[in-house]
Amino acid sequence: MKTLTISLVLFLALAAQATVVDIIKTDERDNVDWWENGVFYQIYPRSFKDSNNDGTGDIKGITSKLQHLKDLGVTGTWLSPIFDSPMVDGGYDIRNYTKVNSIYGSNDDLVELFAEAKKLDLKIILDFVPNHCSNQHQWFINSANRVPGYEDYFTWRACPVENGKRRLPNNWIAVFNTPMWSYDPRRDECYLHQFTKEQPDINFRMENGKTKQEMLDVLTFWMDQGVNGFRVDAINHMFESPAYTNQVLLEEGLDPNLYGNYDNRYTRDLRESYEFIYSAREHLDKYAKANGNVTRVLMTEAYATIPQQTQWYGVNDTLRGSHIPFNFGFIADITANSKAEDFKKVVDEWMGNMPSFTMGQANWVLGNHDRSRLRSRYGDDRYEGLAIMSMTLPGVAIIYYGEEIGMVDNNDITWEETEDPQACQSNSSVYKDFTRDPVRTPMQWDDSPLGGFCESCKTWLPVSPSFTDINVKKQTGDETSTFALYKNLIALRKEKDVLKFGGLSTKVIADGDVFAFERTIKDNPSIVTLLNLSKDSKTVNLADLFNADDVSSKTKATVLISNNRSELKKGNTFSNINSITIGGYDGVVFEVSSAMRIATSALYLVAAFWVAVKFVF
Ligand code: NOJ
Repeated sequence: MKTLTISLVLFLALAAQATVVDIIKTDERDNVDWWENGVFYQIYPRSFKDSNNDGTGDIKGITSKLQHLKDLGVTGTWLSPIFDSPMVDGGYDIRNYTKVNSIYGSNDDLVELFAEAKKLDLKIILDFVPNHCSNQHQWFINSANRVPGYEDYFTWRACPVENGKRRLPNNWIAVFNTPMWSYDPRRDECYLHQFTKEQPDINFRMENGKTKQEMLDVLTFWMDQGVNGFRVDAINHMFESPAYTNQVLLEEGLDPNLYGNYDNRYTRDLRESYEFIYSAREHLDKYAKANGNVTRVLMTEAYATIPQQTQWYGVNDTLRGSHIPFNFGFIADITANSKAEDFKKVVDEWMGNMPSFTMGQANWVLGNHDRSRLRSRYGDDRYEGLAIMSMTLPGVAIIYYGEEIGMVDNNDITWEETEDPQACQSNSSVYKDFTRDPVRTPMQWDDSPLGGFCESCKTWLPVSPSFTDINVKKQTGDETSTFALYKNLIALRKEKDVLKFGGLSTKVIADGDVFAFERTIKDNPSIVTLLNLSKDSKTVNLADLFNADDVSSKTKATVLISNNRSELKKGNTFSNINSITIGGYDGVVFEVSSAMRIATSALYLVAAFWVAVKFVF
């Protein structure tokens, strides 16, 4: 009886506190895998560091700069392709999947990079490009020449000349705005390519599964060398409808030569592409099981709708897919004019559509080698706020090289200097609408003449003139720099359990100008991030964010981190959370302490004890 009464009283005391939802259940916290909550740093190898003064970055250069990644505190890095390639599309046209491109060094250099990274506890993720290879790959040469066994490695169709014009198999347009079919005289047929004509699409509908096996073998090869995972390129382009039906323009009258003027339903997001990823995942998991039980991760690249995106995660606990299906919401759906509600929508949609099985983790991508840089997209005032937001949301954060020092697009690259095939396939008057070169310029290490990328060389793309002002050396040791902000954010993620495991609730406050979210976890103070999207300062009531039954326990807000333009600084404390003023474009993270909550809990326990003593003993 006594025990029952005490238990009942204690239960009532505990139930009086607010309920919190954890992203990862408390009892599973010991099992959090190395990649979950990780921060991954994308290196574009051609532009990171040139060790031999030939104007192109290389693997030894990357190795020499691993300490920079360590200083930043990231979990690992994913390298854009470093494989043998004629470099028509920056290495996304692979001639040999298991050989390092000689402009970057050798396989031995790469193995040395793996070893050095391991010493620093940094994981290495390689780019994996299964959809297409180079037209100089031996497979394509064999297929074009009908070498037995290789005939169907690619998709070939008749395309006879009729009335002086080649009749293509259908009207499909490639991503870079050319027809999706090109003629090869060796075979007197046309082959399909979703990107440039130098990147023929591999045919994964082969009945004997040969091409799929080739690709799984590539994964095994690199895992044997020590990689920790793969970023899979253009994954939603892997299959085309076998009916070859013509695409229909989104609206009549649109230019039929532009990829974006179709919904491309017959060439993108086909069910079979997901199935490929599920098999790749199975392959990686089997490998991991047999090799030290260390997870090899899959990151996947697909620009798609949210319901499509989240299917990359897998179907259920036994049919899993990508660990990190890149979430491009902040790149594709948000602009410098977006409002707080747009940010909330991006976050809520991703979180709301994530599968419920245990391996799902959210992720937030702010930049990559295909899209304008974060700072150029959002402006000097706002980019740091976005970094703060992405690093305090649940799950994995991705950084594009140079983002951590606030590098900007170099828009002064001339037509003659242009390298990107997407731009080269246009013309000198419109190439700037297509070029991705401005976001791929050499990393800015210091203010020496070539930004420290090389000592004396002709860089493959011009160094951005901003290097004198924006560079690693200048920001190192400067606590008011973007670099310090990133370092502090990553350190904070590691320090606070609530950022690693906590639940999330989002809200728009301050008349629609502030995007706010709270991270909560049992027995920890909450963390609240505020992102002011207006240029004007805003006075906010943090209590608006909390459940009515929880609000009385939140009494004190202390700034943990803020963007450099903010006047609020780490350690500033507010004892009245109902009225906190943040500056225009501020991004601020508060710890909202539960001093009262502890006091209330103590009060409940004392009361419970008193009841127990009075009535039971
Ligand atoms: C996506 C890559 O990110 C992009 O740079 C490349 O051009 C295409 N895939 C084709 O591989």
